[in-house]
Amino acid sequence: MKFNARQRMDGLKLLRALEPGSARLVVFDPQYRAVLDHQAYGNEGERQSARSKLRQMPEAKIAEFVAAVGDVLGRSGHMVLWLDKFSIGEGIHLRLLTAAPGLIRVDLIHWNKLGFGMGPRSRGTSEYAVIVQKRPVRAKGVWTDRSLRDSWSEKKPRGGHPHAKPLGLTKRLIEAVTRHGDLVVDPAAGGYGVLRACRETGREFAGCDVA
Ligand SMILES: C[S@@+](CC[C@H](N)C(=O)[O-])C[C@H]1O[C@@H](n2cnc3c(N)ncnc32)[C@H](O)[C@@H]1O
Repeated sequence: MKFNARQRMDGLKLLRALEPGSARLVVFDPQYRAVLDHQAYGNEGERQSARSKLRQMPEAKIAEFVAAVGDVLGRSGHMVLWLDKFSIGEGIHLRLLTAAPGLIRVDLIHWNKLGFGMGPRSRGTSEYAVIVQKRPVRAKGVWTDRSLRDSWSEKKPRGGHPHAKPLGLTKRLIEAVTRHGDLVVDPAAGGYGVLRACRETGREFAGCDVA
């Protein structure tokens, strides 16, 4: 297990190798299989076929990750669970959280990518960060950023990983729920934006990707 570095590894193995209760924040951005099935991304051209080549996770596997996140988080620690509109609409986060009864939904932040995506009706430009907290649930003294709004506009990072998340919001969330030197975990790290955010905010990082 390496800290503050990239490593090729199964995320579930990483979560299970960490000391229980050692993390203050887990950022989890699963490669959700059902989204591809729903949107048939493989037929939509270059960028989408790059996405479809990434290792997909069936919902049962994602639920196993969520259960392991429940173990690795310390008391009142947070998970940021990234989902798209399809997953939110299907209530996938509600199903996933049954895998870890100690984890409670406490907030939802909308990311406006300021782009012009796909969609047979409205054109997608949004993703959602479901904010989850391990019991005991409390905001006072744990969530320190009282000016962060629940809608965040930041251009999707260009180049790099096809699912890269916004660096600015990632840093704000890290600073909102962790302190200097705390451990932040990303078990499906993709382009390692969370590692970069940890370096820039002075947090410890443990993360990996199978690719
Ligand atoms: C949605 S992307 C993450 C993007 C990342 N948040 C970023 O900002 O670049 C999901 C990643 O999960 C990885 N992945 C799939 N199965 C995995 C597993 N079992 N363990 C670790 N990573 C996995 C994929 O390779 C992909 O890079």
